[in-house]
Amino acid sequence: MNIADSEIVASILNESGYDVTRDINEASLILLNTCSIRENAEQKIWNRLKALKSVRKKNPSVMIGVIGCMAERLKEKLIQNDLPVDIVAGPDSYRSLPDLVIEAEIGQSRINVMLSESETYADISPLRLDSNGVTAFIAIMRGCNNMCTYCVVPFVRGSERSRDPRSIVKEATELFRKGYREVTLIGQNVNSYFWKDTGETIGFPELLAEVARIDPLLRVRFATSHPKDLSDKLLETIASYDNICKHIHLPVQSGSNRILKLMNRQYTREWYMNRIEAIRKIILECSVSTDIIAGFCTETEENHKDTLSLMEWAGFDFAYMFKYNERPGTKAAESLPDDVPDEIKTKRLNEIINLQNKISAKSKKADVGKIHRVLVEGYSKRSTNFLYGRTSQNKVVVFPAENCQIGEYVNVMVEKCTSATLTGRLI
Ligand code: 5AD
Ligand code: SF4
Repeated sequence: MNIADSEIVASILNESGYDVTRDINEASLILLNTCSIRENAEQKIWNRLKALKSVRKKNPSVMIGVIGCMAERLKEKLIQNDLPVDIVAGPDSYRSLPDLVIEAEIGQSRINVMLSESETYADISPLRLDSNGVTAFIAIMRGCNNMCTYCVVPFVRGSERSRDPRSIVKEATELFRKGYREVTLIGQNVNSYFWKDTGETIGFPELLAEVARIDPLLRVRFATSHPKDLSDKLLETIASYDNICKHIHLPVQSGSNRILKLMNRQYTREWYMNRIEAIRKIILECSVSTDIIAGFCTETEENHKDTLSLMEWAGFDFAYMFKYNERPGTKAAESLPDDVPDEIKTKRLNEIINLQNKISAKSKKADVGKIHRVLVEGYSKRSTNFLYGRTSQNKVVVFPAENCQIGEYVNVMVEKCTSATLTGRLI
């Protein structure tokens, strides 16, 4: 989401006459787009700001801004110190950035952290940064109404609002025309996408189908799905279109019903298992990835074992795994004790990671000997004699470049797997 937001910010500033530079010493404006989800994400920004002191020393007129979730969360605290910060703008105030820069230049107020009920930046055509020219993100909604007790997102990104479907389809169509071959529709909870217009209502399955109909050569992905809202209708839509990728990111967070309740996830272990069964039944060869939090408030060894057993049962192809980190202002911070000692959180996280490594290895091994349709995204980091791309199931495959081009679809026979990638040959 922050990549997509940076592209919106770049577009807004571009309209005001700014260009993007790769050289920090050449910049007249430096913006740090920030994340508040865990403390270490914020710590990185504090360190980066300290490092920017020397850039400011060399170039006293350079403007420095902090934008995004940390700006929203900390507001004036980002300015009240000896760090070089001139501008603070939250996720809903990016349109005001050109004005904030002018105000900061003449030493006036330079904070805008007003959250909005309606801002979706629907009319802004993002300026693609660091693009491979093949894959792009399209934000379809902003904010979140779910109020998971551990999560800072609803406070820093505001309440949920969906973007006009016509502007989404237009953006995807233009990307396809420019040669892009894959779009990922993103939102904190895409399953609650909702648009009502002159009597017609459009939910996420309808939106996904409309984007898929743009062209069979345009792959469509999406993230993230909340398990409580994952409907059979959506699964049927995914199954009906070859170009909708067969991969669902479905964060489970915990396998214990007691912990899920304390997290306010609004589903049970059994509900989650039922959704996985529905995926397996409705979609052929669908991969599933997840997010897991280790050591949430009051988590017992038995609760942790419930997470391990669910992981094993579900056989996730991939997982993002975290230690619980208390965030100020959240319901958990206010009313639940962060009482799992750090050593125990680390131990549990390591158990989760070790188990997932085994499960992921098994999932990759199952691909060996199979032919996959791969969208070529770029050259392999190690050698330009090799290209890489992803399968519909979102697994990275590396193969000899031969005569194929970036942006093309190729068939690859998977011959080997390492811990992170599959390798194969063109057929
Ligand atoms: N501590 C640890 N992990 C968190 N996440 C969100 N908030 C926290 C927190 N306070 C994780 C969840 C979420 C992912 C984006 O980040 O797993 O799905
Ligand atoms: Fe945070 Fe829960 Fe919303 Fe995800 S669904 S952004 S975890 S509050």
